[in-house]
Amino acid sequence: MLKVVLTDYEYKSLATEKEVLRRVGIELTTAQCKTEEEVINACFDADGIINQYAPITRKVIDNLNKCKVIARYGVGVDTIDVEAATEKGIIVSNVTDYCIDEVSDHAFALLMSAARKVVALNDAVKNGTWDFNVGVPIFRLRGRVLGLVGFGQIPQALAKKAQSFGIEVVAFDPFVSREVAEQLAVQLVTLEELCSTSDFISVHAPLNEHTKGILSDEQFALMKKETFVINTARGPVIDEKALIRALQNGTIAGAALDVVEEEPISSDNPLLNMDHVILNPHVAWYSEESQEELKRKTAQNVADVLSGFYPKYIVNRNVKEILELKEQ
Ligand SMILES: NC(=O)c1ccc[n+]([C@@H]2O[C@H](COP(=O)([O-])OP(=O)(O)OC[C@H]3O[C@@H](n4cnc5c(N)ncnc54)[C@H](O)[C@@H]3O)[C@@H](O)[C@H]2O)c1
Repeated sequence: MLKVVLTDYEYKSLATEKEVLRRVGIELTTAQCKTEEEVINACFDADGIINQYAPITRKVIDNLNKCKVIARYGVGVDTIDVEAATEKGIIVSNVTDYCIDEVSDHAFALLMSAARKVVALNDAVKNGTWDFNVGVPIFRLRGRVLGLVGFGQIPQALAKKAQSFGIEVVAFDPFVSREVAEQLAVQLVTLEELCSTSDFISVHAPLNEHTKGILSDEQFALMKKETFVINTARGPVIDEKALIRALQNGTIAGAALDVVEEEPISSDNPLLNMDHVILNPHVAWYSEESQEELKRKTAQNVADVLSGFYPKYIVNRNVKEILELKEQ
């Protein structure tokens, strides 16, 4: 009997995952691991792993005796040491296309809330102040510049939404071709140009060793004091201490963050007490439809590998050099 372990989860129901695995004769074993040791104890004899936020480090991977696949719920695989998994012939899979609409909508909702000061005005009215001056200054959206850090699937969808409001879009992404950008009427610029010209900066780069802290003191210093910074990617892509300094010093106008360095946010984080900061609990990916799609596709990645097939979504394609599974 094959064993699939879910390392941790926040979902109320696991019916979809259980149904997908049941169809190939596998029962799902669930855990709520937070530490490496807890993951090792839960997964050492697993044939497959489904992972949300628990750490799948090299130490964890060294202790997996027969695991063939680690499937992450979501796009980002920063919870998994992909190199260690590849060396051990373990397929790492993700789901890259379940929430492009949701995250781009959410980033735009944060942009609009920041631009129109929706949260500050709402708080003021509910606290007894009926005065539009609470929102001063608000600038016309049309003609403003949105800078996208990373220009993958989500920010490309966001660009179209922003353009339909008359916003001009520029992007920094060293790996995207000029043709792709031109087709979307987006100008590719350097990170320095993006920081100094944008009124809104929306961060969409994946978290890795090159992108960690990509916005830090040096970049905030280039920004205009009217600039809002939005992050729906991963907390550590922004150097949070530098962001807090920029917000405290008035170097930038505000921030809207769906993700922070430490999640859940710690109760003494200064961001919690800043009126010009909007905070959401890593929710951008979510809609009823995207959640269902994510759960189904994640479980299917595991079911495929344990049935002898390569899954639809593979992060470490080079693992194919040492594996012999069937193409679907
Ligand atoms: N908040 C949420 O709920 C949520 C949900 C889904 C995805 N995400 C995050 O959003 C990120 C982006 O998603 P996507 O679907 O657009 O990813 P994608 O894989 O389509 O695109 C990533 C882009 O980042 C670019 N990139 C890589 N390194 C870079 C660097 N050093 N500087 C600038 N750009 C760089 C790549 O060239 C690529 O174009 C994901 O990595 C994930 O962490 C968050």
